Amino acid sequence: MSDKRNILIFDTTLRDGEQSPGCSMNMTEKLEVARALATLGVDIIEAGFPIASQGDFEAVKTVAGEVSGPVICGLARSLEKDIRRAADAIKPAARPRIHVFCATSEIHRTYKLRRAKQEILKMSVESVQLACTLVDDVEFSPEDASRTEVEFLTEVVAAVIDAGAKTVNIPDTVGYAMPAEFGDLIRYLRANVPNIDKAVISVHCHNDLGCAVANSLAAVRAGAGQVECTVNGIGERAGNAAMEEIVMAIKTRSDFLNFTTNIQTKRIYPSCRLVASVTGQTIPRHKAVVGDNAFAHEAGIHQHGVLAARETYEIMRPEDIGIPSSKLVLGKHSGRHAFKQRTEALGYSLTDEQIDKAFEKFKALADKKKDVFDADIEALIDEQIEQAPEVWTLGGVQTTAGSRAIPTATVTLVKEGQSHTDAAIGDGPVDAVYQAISRITGIKPRLTDYMLRALTGGTDAQGEVTIEVEYEGRRFRARGVSTDIVEGSARAYLAAINRAATWTNGERTRPAQP
Ligand code: KIV
Ligand code: ZN
Repeated sequence: MSDKRNILIFDTTLRDGEQSPGCSMNMTEKLEVARALATLGVDIIEAGFPIASQGDFEAVKTVAGEVSGPVICGLARSLEKDIRRAADAIKPAARPRIHVFCATSEIHRTYKLRRAKQEILKMSVESVQLACTLVDDVEFSPEDASRTEVEFLTEVVAAVIDAGAKTVNIPDTVGYAMPAEFGDLIRYLRANVPNIDKAVISVHCHNDLGCAVANSLAAVRAGAGQVECTVNGIGERAGNAAMEEIVMAIKTRSDFLNFTTNIQTKRIYPSCRLVASVTGQTIPRHKAVVGDNAFAHEAGIHQHGVLAARETYEIMRPEDIGIPSSKLVLGKHSGRHAFKQRTEALGYSLTDEQIDKAFEKFKALADKKKDVFDADIEALIDEQIEQAPEVWTLGGVQTTAGSRAIPTATVTLVKEGQSHTDAAIGDGPVDAVYQAISRITGIKPRLTDYMLRALTGGTDAQGEVTIEVEYEGRRFRARGVSTDIVEGSARAYLAAINRAATWTNGERTRPAQP
């Protein structure tokens, strides 16, 4: 029996993560991510903010009904309508939780809520009491806790625990705290809230000053029992504490951090890849734990050291994170069996039908490209998973361009079995393709970001295009992959347009987000 304290991992990728610009996911993607989180072993999934929109409500309800294992949580402001909506959404879950929040800091009280301390206290208590009549498991967050007067914070925390909150979350909402200071705050609350042992202390740290993970770990050392985090650290502004960094810090530094988590660390890499893929937010190469360079050694002296003894420059083992150990190459003579085995090693568990589809694409790729690497296989499967809201599909794209030609594109798109073809000119071939796609679909978003990278080495490498567009006040990110970068660009743009189209078909109005 371990003497280590187990820390609960509360994952808010589907709520705080999804809330950040360009990270919106559709229902299929949310369900896919929720299933991956359950396999990963997170203790609680915050599946969304049900009052935010009909789409959010449906997503939380679907996750609650279809994903078993973790507690499924829905977020609510301290308002009766939010709390009842959250309760309805999480009803299908075996273990439902309502997470109620109310801002407590002076700046939020004055400018956002325009309420005095006593009113905030009353709202917080009454909302927890109401939530407790609807579910057994209620969590409360005093939003902007780290900038709240500590005496008032102590009073609120004690009152909501008396009202029935089983978890009290202390958010560093704007990423303002410093690690030692945040640890001290948790220690202070443990020492000064008389009923603190009746609740689990949770922390929720944002990364505005790059301290989210450090603050979370300082809080755990000070007695927090739950950490709120997101896969790849996605979230509002600079993001939330990254799940993979917290978990691997606890595992790698178990000599110093006397804790455990229930996370199956071998599922970390596939989960991070999945979230990157469905949100279109690529993992930076230098990202801790899961970035492409996290286990790459460039300097000769480092390479020499690692070859002699891996521990000289590697503090974690890639296999513990689920990073595929071999970069096995497949080619056009590889069979379905070898392909399926490779997808399993990469962390996918695909149905026979999905394998058949992916294998067909793999064969087409292997005809164009001599060696097919892991990154190519991941890209084609991810593209297949991302294809959920396919309103329009790409029938074909043809361009003429050159230093003396006017860039021209002819594009064919297919919608409900009908082909639509149009042509356009542009500043370059990609611009011409985007103009033609917009003419056909009638959707003309503003391109706010465009990134092209080679998935592997070699001039025959596939190009991965990641774009962000803005449409009717919302940002959508999407990806397209092809050996032809113009076609990859077209695929990315079309995927973004499909996201915008399905979003518009859903609904656009959202209440103020936390
Ligand atoms: O950052 C924050 O304060 C939040 C709360 C809703 C917990 O996301
Ligand atoms: Zn947050």
